[in-house]
Amino acid sequence: MIAPIERTLAGLRAQTARWRKAGETIGVVPTMGALHQGHLSLARAARAACDRVIVTIFVNPRQFNNPDDLENYPRTEVDDARKLETTGVDLIYVPEPDQIYPGGFATNVSVHGLTDMLCGAHRPGHFDGVATVVSKLFLQTGADQAFFGEKDYQQLQIVRRVAADLDIPVAIVGCPTIREEDGLAMSSRNLLLSDRSRVYAPVLAEVMGDMRDQLLAGAAMAAIVGDAQARLLAAGFHTIDYLELRDGADLSLLDRTTPGARLFAAAWLAGVRLIDNIAI
Ligand code: PAF
Repeated sequence: MIAPIERTLAGLRAQTARWRKAGETIGVVPTMGALHQGHLSLARAARAACDRVIVTIFVNPRQFNNPDDLENYPRTEVDDARKLETTGVDLIYVPEPDQIYPGGFATNVSVHGLTDMLCGAHRPGHFDGVATVVSKLFLQTGADQAFFGEKDYQQLQIVRRVAADLDIPVAIVGCPTIREEDGLAMSSRNLLLSDRSRVYAPVLAEVMGDMRDQLLAGAAMAAIVGDAQARLLAAGFHTIDYLELRDGADLSLLDRTTPGARLFAAAWLAGVRLIDNIAI
C-alpha cells in the first residue's frame, strides 16, 4: 500500500500526536526525494527499529549554493511514493515550502569547525542549510530516532553535533553506504550522469579502494595522492574538490592511517559532482 502523503505541519502533528498517545515510537528518514536503494535501506532500518516511520521529502533550497543545481535536482515524488511501498513506511511528509520556511523566517543553525573542510569548504552555506532544515524536521516530527546514510559522512557528523548541542531528543543512526554492483555509491545525483559518464563514474570508488590498500600497507597520503588524482583525471573527472584522509570523528586531516580514519573524495564528472568516503 502506498503510504499517505502529508503536506502540512498541522496534519503531521495531528498524526504523530495519535501515535504518541498510543505509546508508539517514531523514526524519521529525512530525504530530498529521487529515492534509491540507499534511501530505502534507511527506511528499512527505521522500520526495524521504530513502531512508526516517517520519510520526509523536501528539496531544501537553503542548502543549495548554486541556483542551477537546485533547478536541476531530480524531483520524482510519484515514483518515490511507489518505491517506499516495499518498505512499509507509515507516512510520507512532503511539506510545502511555507511549512518549513514561513514568511519572516530568520533563523539559521550554523555549526562551527566540522563545516569548515571537505564539502563545507567547497559549498559555502550548504551545511547551514542542512543543519537548519534537519533541526526543523526533528522538531516537527518529534522523532525518537533519525536515520542518515554514511555516504554523506560529513553531514552525518554535523547532524550528530546539532542534535547534541541543541538538546534535540533524537538519536542519530548512521547507516552504511549502498553501492551499485560496480562500486559506485548510490546517490540521487547519479540520475544526472549521461550514459557515457556513468561508465566512468565507478573509477572514483575503484581509485579510493586502491588508496585504502596502499594506506593499509603503510603509505603516506603525500606519496599516493598524486597518482590517484592522475587516474581520476584520465578517467574524465575534470575537477577534484578534495581527496583526503581524515579522522572519522572530528574530521581532522591525516597523512597516514590511524584507527577510525576515513578517505573522503569529491570530484566532478561531466558537470556532475560525485562524493564518496570509505573507512580505512
Ligand atoms: O542528505 C540529504 O538528502 C539532505 O541533506 C537532507 C539530510 C535530507 C537535508 O535536506
